[in-house]
Amino acid sequence: MAQTASDSTIDALLKEGRTFPPSPEFTAQANVRDDSLWREADADPEAFWARQAEKYLSFSRPWDTILEWNLPFARWFVGGTLNASYQCLDRHVDAGHGDKVAYLWEGEPGDTRSITYAELLEQVCRFANALRGLGVKRGDRVGIYMGMVPELPVAMLACARIGAAHSVVFGGFSADAVADRMNDSGSVCLITQDEAWRRGTTVPLKRNVDEALTKTETITQVVVVRRTGNDVPMTEGRDHWYHDLVSAQEPTCEPEAMDSEDLLFTLYTSGTTAKPKGIKHTTAGYLLQTMYTHDLVFDIHPDTVFWCAADIGWVTGHSYIVYGPLGNGVTSVMYEGTPDFPDKDRWWATIEKYGVTVLYCAPTAIRTFMKWGREYPDKHDLSSLRMLGTVGEPINPEAWIWYREMIGGGRIPVVDTWWQTETGGIMIAPLPGVTTLKPGSATRPLPGIGASVVDEQGNDVPLGGGGYVVLTRPWPGMLRGIWGDDERYKETYWKKYGDRYFAGDGARIDDEGYFWFMGRVDDVMNVSGHRISTTEVESALVDHPKVAEAAVTAKADPQTGQAVAAFVTLRSGYEESTELAVELREHVGKLIGAIAKPKWITFTPELPKTRSGKIMRRLLRDISENRNLGDTTTLADANVVKELQTRAAAEADKEQ
Ligand code: WTA
Repeated sequence: MAQTASDSTIDALLKEGRTFPPSPEFTAQANVRDDSLWREADADPEAFWARQAEKYLSFSRPWDTILEWNLPFARWFVGGTLNASYQCLDRHVDAGHGDKVAYLWEGEPGDTRSITYAELLEQVCRFANALRGLGVKRGDRVGIYMGMVPELPVAMLACARIGAAHSVVFGGFSADAVADRMNDSGSVCLITQDEAWRRGTTVPLKRNVDEALTKTETITQVVVVRRTGNDVPMTEGRDHWYHDLVSAQEPTCEPEAMDSEDLLFTLYTSGTTAKPKGIKHTTAGYLLQTMYTHDLVFDIHPDTVFWCAADIGWVTGHSYIVYGPLGNGVTSVMYEGTPDFPDKDRWWATIEKYGVTVLYCAPTAIRTFMKWGREYPDKHDLSSLRMLGTVGEPINPEAWIWYREMIGGGRIPVVDTWWQTETGGIMIAPLPGVTTLKPGSATRPLPGIGASVVDEQGNDVPLGGGGYVVLTRPWPGMLRGIWGDDERYKETYWKKYGDRYFAGDGARIDDEGYFWFMGRVDDVMNVSGHRISTTEVESALVDHPKVAEAAVTAKADPQTGQAVAAFVTLRSGYEESTELAVELREHVGKLIGAIAKPKWITFTPELPKTRSGKIMRRLLRDISENRNLGDTTTLADANVVKELQTRAAAEADKEQ
């Protein structure tokens, strides 16, 4: 298996070996206090999930069959009907909780909005009616390209209410990325905003949409939320101001009765090829997975103030800002901007201001806060916090301990949660009232989830060993496939082991069965907790007229976990230069988004290739991480490598 950035972390941890059992006080008040759920689930997983569905979901027609497992295609709660927006809103309002706050929204410039469940329901109904008025129908796909404003969850739930599937594109992606996703999903309508606030400046979302729409054919309607208020061009007949549309609508809207297995959304994620995959999630199973995990892993109570500091443009935001918390009727904080605006204590000020009880964020953020120093959290009273969570990449024990000490005051649980866009919700994580924590480990599969670590042949590795992570049985929130590409679904996740889901992650499993994740084993990088495909960045580089060939690899980075390192060969006649490196970075930013820009670009007259002409990526990774190169006997030309090592080292020196 490929060596990964976190190998050294794991060694460090094994030496340390600290454990943190739950405190008796925490356990006494926890939703789960013993291991009976695991035993119940193992005894009969399907019956277990059926009981959870009864507990969490409101069906308008009950389901007939718990699970139809037609490997690798699952259908859960077959025959049932329900509506995700009803599940997230009406249910709570009908139960008398209409005045409970759904979102405590904090705008980056400092403006705030507090939105109750009743208000959110009315907004969703009005916008659902407006979408219907624009001709959006049940079964259609709708694109959403927005910043973190309350109208984003409103738009998602309005789609769900009328039975249209949403396809949210992260607001940091470029016009081209938007166009690709709209074309692939065949979206008929795109919801956006004039501009987004980010670190005190504006992101031109509507202008990007205008550019994207020159490359799309299916979108006939655009809805624009006014956020910054700056002037943006509007195309007569196609573009509509959100606020004009909704004010003219009725405040109620009958929810569509959707089948359990009707598509709720697609969300695009990087795979090993250049083309992002539209991951499909359906209604009942996904809602159950997000609500169940949110409730248990974060130990939700009626007075919880939950803050998932992800962006809704990624799956973490879908599941733990929108569907999980709203499904559970919880109050969430939603923050629009960056952690350093106007100063580096913005998160801690926000926690103090709203009395946040649970914070869920990415290790990359924690490492950034470590770098900024403890004086920022120290300025604020964080005593409202009851627990902390992390997601998106392996967390190194140092960061885990810092998070627990500096943010959690050394007194509360930290849950490391492993999951993927494909799994819909958390899969491997502690239950904080029960599980003894080990810094750097996501601990064990949740009740109902089957996971193990296997070798190349698919045999379980013995405790203490390392290998590939597989999921051993279907789960309600599992992806239902890749939009428009069943073959790729089978190939990517099921071909390797046949009857078990291949997650693409490496892990070790310790002598107590705890999982220690070690990063991706395929050509997917993890930058700041976001998946980026090496192939996609390579394609973007080669798209530049001066580039002949490019190979991209992940390089361990103290802050972002991994950073993109690119090796570029120019077409003849072009000169290597710092300016050109800048130009190439910008080019990648334009084609994919800033997140994919290579941090390191090494120009090279040649890439290391095997005799059969395959680029040796493993070697490039070793070169960029300055490691011994192991076996290079298959190289066509060994001199290429020496030259590259020198160049890459020079490049790395420049940075310091
Ligand atoms: C990685 C994000 C280690 C992993 C929810 C996975 C993690 C990919 C963890 C999915 C964790 C996520 N420990 N690695 N706690 N959480 N990952 O689809 O490589 O954006 O396959 O979903 O992130 O990223 P995705």
